[in-house]
Amino acid sequence: MKIILTKNYAELSKKSAEIIISQVKSKKNSILGLATGSTPIGTYKAIIEMHKNRQVSFENIHTVNLDEYRGISRDNSQSYYCYMKKELFNYIDINLKNTYIPNGMNENAQEECENYENIIKNLGGIDLQILGIGHNGHIGFNEPSDKFSTKTYCVKLDDRTIEANARFFDSFEDVPKEAYTMGIDTIMSAKKILLLVSGASKADILYETILGEVNPQVPSTILNNHENVTIIADEDALSKVLKEKPNIIK
Ligand code: GLP
Repeated sequence: MKIILTKNYAELSKKSAEIIISQVKSKKNSILGLATGSTPIGTYKAIIEMHKNRQVSFENIHTVNLDEYRGISRDNSQSYYCYMKKELFNYIDINLKNTYIPNGMNENAQEECENYENIIKNLGGIDLQILGIGHNGHIGFNEPSDKFSTKTYCVKLDDRTIEANARFFDSFEDVPKEAYTMGIDTIMSAKKILLLVSGASKADILYETILGEVNPQVPSTILNNHENVTIIADEDALSKVLKEKPNIIK
């Protein structure tokens, strides 16, 4: 694991945008795995800026998103489809036909999950997967469990995840209780992974992720088994790790 320490969220966002842009420049038809949540918003803003300054084109890029709520349609403003348009796609030269997000309205979960895995397979796999992290260590929507998930599947969301995401909805009751998410194997098949972590509220889970045993009750610990993971985290998020292991960043 490579760990990049940044002063704050702004620097984290700039740094991660630079890594993504450098991937896009080195392989113009890259397959990018994208994430939602509040953490990547600054990264997407920085990418939009760089695109405006003509530093990069997304014309030949394909994207696959980690997850989508089940039972929410694409035109619902809470869908991750709307999020991606609002936070990134509307402002760059990507062809929307090249962007993929699970279809939350497909009632046939097995069909939806197989379709999504086939899309990723037919694209040739993910070159760079962006990840955020939940307070319980979830990546995508892979919740703590007795075993690591494999392929894309339909997951029942943890109450803590529903609570954390309720800030985007009118109430707890409005948050969907299920989602389609890439499985752990799907995520781990990406050639490179970039995990973004910001803020003191993530200090405990980042500590567990970096220094804990690989354990499905903390899904993010699986990243220790991947050979090309970069974590970009700000001082607040890394505070507990640095207290224990001040020399961890070389
Ligand atoms: C959601 C998303 C995850 C994201 C997590 C953390 O549950 N499905 O992909 O990593 O939230 O979100 P935030 O970055 O807002 O803390």
